[in-house]
Amino acid sequence: MTRYNAMRELPDTAGFKEGDVLFLCGELFGRGYANGIVDEARAKGMTVIGSTVGRRETDGRLRALTDEELAAAEASLGGKIINIPLEAGFDLEPGQDGIAPADRFKGVKPDDWASVRLDPEQIRFSKERGSERFRGNLAAVVAQLQGMLPATGNLLVVHTMAGGIPRARVFMPILNKLFKGQGDRFLSSEAFWNSDMGRLCNESFNEVTADTFGYLIEATAPFRERLSVRYAAYGYHGCEVLIDGAYTWQSYTPYLQGWAKIRLEDIALAAWEKGIKATVYNCPEIQTNSSALFLGVENSLYPLLGALRMEGEGKIAEECQGLLREGVSIEALLERANAYLSSPIVTATRDLASWPQHNSPKQQEFMLNCSAELIAMNADQKEIVCAVLSRGVFQGVGKLMFDSSWEPQAPLYWLNHDVIAKRLANQA
Ligand SMILES: NC(=O)c1ccc[n+]([C@@H]2O[C@H](COP(=O)([O-])OP(=O)(O)OC[C@H]3O[C@@H](n4cnc5c(N)ncnc54)[C@H](O)[C@@H]3O)[C@@H](O)[C@H]2O)c1
Repeated sequence: MTRYNAMRELPDTAGFKEGDVLFLCGELFGRGYANGIVDEARAKGMTVIGSTVGRRETDGRLRALTDEELAAAEASLGGKIINIPLEAGFDLEPGQDGIAPADRFKGVKPDDWASVRLDPEQIRFSKERGSERFRGNLAAVVAQLQGMLPATGNLLVVHTMAGGIPRARVFMPILNKLFKGQGDRFLSSEAFWNSDMGRLCNESFNEVTADTFGYLIEATAPFRERLSVRYAAYGYHGCEVLIDGAYTWQSYTPYLQGWAKIRLEDIALAAWEKGIKATVYNCPEIQTNSSALFLGVENSLYPLLGALRMEGEGKIAEECQGLLREGVSIEALLERANAYLSSPIVTATRDLASWPQHNSPKQQEFMLNCSAELIAMNADQKEIVCAVLSRGVFQGVGKLMFDSSWEPQAPLYWLNHDVIAKRLANQA
């Protein structure tokens, strides 16, 4: 696939300085990817400005943060937050008939998913209203931001939004089966994806995960007239990790956000064609609030320990060793993860060109069993090596994205374990 572009070398240190601004589009959560780049910006003395998705009242109304919520969010960001709700999507947006997509499942049981029928016209109506609401709120955010920006200098706009699971109660048991079901509880992601409920998810993911990046680029066009502006977004499109001693592309399956992530890449490619410096950085699998549903996604994270060893970085492994059960070594952990990643059950469908792949009963069972075995190697299930490795990855990724954004070279990059390990090993 021609769009594959792995970053192999460490980019030069960015020249961002005090007075330059990082604007974060999407909310910052404790262990989320965006922490890495925000830390870099703060360390350089840049002004960090954030946004919020807002909150939903019990009656469904979308509101801004309360003073108390705002103060807590600003403290964790280390900067001002523009308090206008930037929730994307349309699941709670009424259709022409007054019913929101999330309310179209009254009385639907999880096992009924295949027979649910949704009127595409109604969904389209909701989608347009949702998109209008988001773009309207985004315009208000941009107007406020305008007054906070310097007359000249650098602006780094970071897009971290992804999501869009419709907030109807019936989706959770279905998605739990789809991502975590085995045996009788297995659910085919392909069958679901081709159902009306699957199609709704697809449109919702596209809107939240991808199209918001396009709206952001569009809404901030006036800034490009006076400032040097670049855009960075987080993608996922598989990742190279060490398998049998060689860096090999692999992916979590079934990654149903994959089509939306390809659409996100398309948006960066189209912007780049117009001379706009927009880059999607495809990042490794880590554990965050958003990836908690994808149990087994962390199986691909363990080989980072091998990559770090090759680069001579030992501190992260030392911290991880301290979390393992007595008698369990890093070596044993790496061997188990490697056995998973090199198994024909997993490699049979490994293919970058036809990504993302759907699940199968055997593949999913194997993935979940390996995940459980690997997690059981930790002494305390609440303090696991995955948390340490995830933090290492978002820090490494943050520095790579930050430096690479200084003089953006391409609309797409894959940040694989090799360059991340190199980054972490060469940290001062
Ligand atoms: N976790 C991973 O393994 C992984 C891998 C590669 C890329 N990424 C990407 O990194 C980015 C950050 O995700 P993360 O994993 O750090 O999790 P996170 O939960 O910290 O961040 C998710 C972001 O999406 C926003 N969001 C969710 N629903 C939204 C909605 N309806 N409207 C507006 N914003 C919404 C949240 O406010 C938050 O800013 C995402 O683009 C994600 O796809 C994650």
